Amino acid sequence: MDVLDTFGRPLRDLRISVTDRCNFRCVYCMPKEVYGREHRFLERRELLTFEEIARLARVFVEQGVTKLRITGGEPLVRRDLERLIALLAELDVDLTLTTNASLLPQKAQALADAGLRRITVSLDSLDDAQFRALNDVDFPVDRVLEGIDAATAAGLPVKVNAVVKRGANDDQIVPMAAFFRERGHTLRFIEYMDVGHTNGWRLDDVVPAKEIVGLLDDAFGVEPVDPGYRGEVARRWRYRDGKGEIGVIASVTQPFCGDCTRIRLSAEGKLFTCLFAVRGHDLRALLRNGAGDEELEQAVRGVWRVRSDRYSERRSQATADLRDRVEMSYIGG
Ligand code: GTP
Ligand code: 5AD
Ligand code: SF4
Ligand code: SF4
Repeated sequence: MDVLDTFGRPLRDLRISVTDRCNFRCVYCMPKEVYGREHRFLERRELLTFEEIARLARVFVEQGVTKLRITGGEPLVRRDLERLIALLAELDVDLTLTTNASLLPQKAQALADAGLRRITVSLDSLDDAQFRALNDVDFPVDRVLEGIDAATAAGLPVKVNAVVKRGANDDQIVPMAAFFRERGHTLRFIEYMDVGHTNGWRLDDVVPAKEIVGLLDDAFGVEPVDPGYRGEVARRWRYRDGKGEIGVIASVTQPFCGDCTRIRLSAEGKLFTCLFAVRGHDLRALLRNGAGDEELEQAVRGVWRVRSDRYSERRSQATADLRDRVEMSYIGG
């Protein structure tokens, strides 16, 4: 049964964070100064169990959700994640996962066997030295490429997401496009966003989608493609020579809140109606206090119905009053 928010947007995508931890320390996401030894991560008992997540996911699917995306932190650092995938696969909706690919060589086959349908890999550079500096744990790019190959070998379609930060990896736009179009993987470039408050974001760091597309057009020749579905985040472009397509996610220069059908569940069971939200609604408390399915449904509908978020469209006016917004590594991308 559909539920609409105050702008008439339906609820379609649930993004589920399964951990706030990650084995990388990407400089724009989990800088070491903030996420070092003394950082307080969630403890195990604070996390929703796989059974709790699956129970909630079912409630969301009954409210019209058709896509589930597992995120983190890095979701594959949560032990036995394939067990959760198997539980969610029973719901028979689009089931996908966003990962840094470091653990895919060991995990890809088990995830595919459990019913994962596709996968998105975050990779910001093909230059080994640059990539090691960006992830800040000296992780080599070849091992990410091995992870992508393992996913492909397991039959999982792979998309690659690259966050572009000026001066950090913008020299990689054309080389990455050339590389992934040869391999047949869709690559999406993401404008660097002002999520959280630990990454020291500045507007000057953003490479606008227009500039990215201009570079690609000069190098290969590209033309626009219609959106695949309402609310698609990436704007799509195809290579004129027919060799696949690329996407740009222009959440800073061309925000897409008008069609935003996404909701986010944190690893500790808080529900956020916007990537830039400050406060979440505690579903774990409801679950652990013995709420029935009907009560959970009411809670979800109640949260969505009053939703009026459109942060990216208001960005310039709104930044000042959002000093406490949550971090990407906590809420997932
Ligand atoms: P597909 O299902 O493969 O089309 O994926 P998607 O379009 O949902 O994109 P994905 O989940 O891979 O998200 C890519 C990136 O877009 C994220 O890592 C974020 O940086 C950004 N993004 C996704 N959803 C939102 C959103 O609701 N708001 C904003 N501002 N950015 C978003
Ligand atoms: N802006 C845009 N994308 C970001 N991600 C993390 N931080 C940011 C940011 N500030 C991306 C990651 C990954 C996904 C989970 O979110 O690179 O692709
Ligand atoms: Fe980890 Fe992804 Fe954040 Fe990098 S961007 S630190 S891989 S969660
Ligand atoms: Fe949706 Fe908030 Fe992102 Fe806008 S900023 S697209 S409302 S999650």
